[in-house]
Amino acid sequence: MKSSAPGKIILFGEHAVVYHRPALAVPVNQVQAEAEVLDSDSAGVWIHAPIINLHAELSTLPPNHAIGSVIRQLFSTFQLSSRAGEKGGIAINISSTIPIASGLGSGAAVSVALIRALAAFFSLSLTNNQINEMVYEAEKIHHGTPSGIDNTVITFNQPVYFIKGQPIETFAVGKPFTIVIGDTGVPAPTKESVSDVRKLWLRDNNKYENIFDEIGQISLIARRSIQSGKPELLGELMNENHALLQQLTVSSPELDTLVFAAREAGALGAKLSGGGRGGNMIALAKQAEAKQVAESLIKAGAKNTIITEIK
Ligand code: PMV
Repeated sequence: MKSSAPGKIILFGEHAVVYHRPALAVPVNQVQAEAEVLDSDSAGVWIHAPIINLHAELSTLPPNHAIGSVIRQLFSTFQLSSRAGEKGGIAINISSTIPIASGLGSGAAVSVALIRALAAFFSLSLTNNQINEMVYEAEKIHHGTPSGIDNTVITFNQPVYFIKGQPIETFAVGKPFTIVIGDTGVPAPTKESVSDVRKLWLRDNNKYENIFDEIGQISLIARRSIQSGKPELLGELMNENHALLQQLTVSSPELDTLVFAAREAGALGAKLSGGGRGGNMIALAKQAEAKQVAESLIKAGAKNTIITEIK
């Protein structure tokens, strides 16, 4: 049984979303995580994930192992352990083309693909809400205090307007638009940037509450622009959002270089996307100019680019 799940980008609102401000995220289907569950002659539950160099039996994984915790959660919720496989065991193969720790949601996508593949193997029918809740639990291991935006956009595979703790809102795209994603190639764990922002916020509550408010306003205006078919307005909003993220200290020289290069190459706006400090940035480009923006990003040091149509 095979299942897959897309990557994602946060268009607006990262970090502020942890503090209950709205954020917008969209799936990126050009990159995918895939999980396959098979009967195996070897007893137990064997996990093979070459992308993270993991070849292990479930019981040998520590309690805080994200992949192990997803499987254990599903097994205990549905009392599956005793039914593991017809031949004595099962093998789980995990692969992914989503870069790790770079703001594209690799952890959440692996969890979603894994739960779907296990559910299919054990003939369980799970709702998206059930999957989303389980993946959120695993996200806590990756992120510490995640807002839940990654698991939501990836589970539902639709653009979402996300406010922590509120019902999930997907939104319609009035007119398609093109986003160029540039990877700094610098892995940066989201947990660290989220925890650093928390320290700043604890030190100067007023200042950072104001920044979060401004970011929240940008997400709100951006949603309206997207829904009403005026995506060209997003460029300036991206630039403003990037400046606010710089104030949160989550940009980096590499991200700033790529953001600047994208704007120089004709992008309508650009910003970092996700946890920051490394990982990916995004730029809004006219469709005909997207390739040129992507090429300029590579010249400026990007390790990889993806051009994606948001619709
Ligand atoms: O680094 P990513 O793309 O997985 O997402 C991080 C988004 C944050 O707002 C920084 C954290 C969160 O949990 O929402």
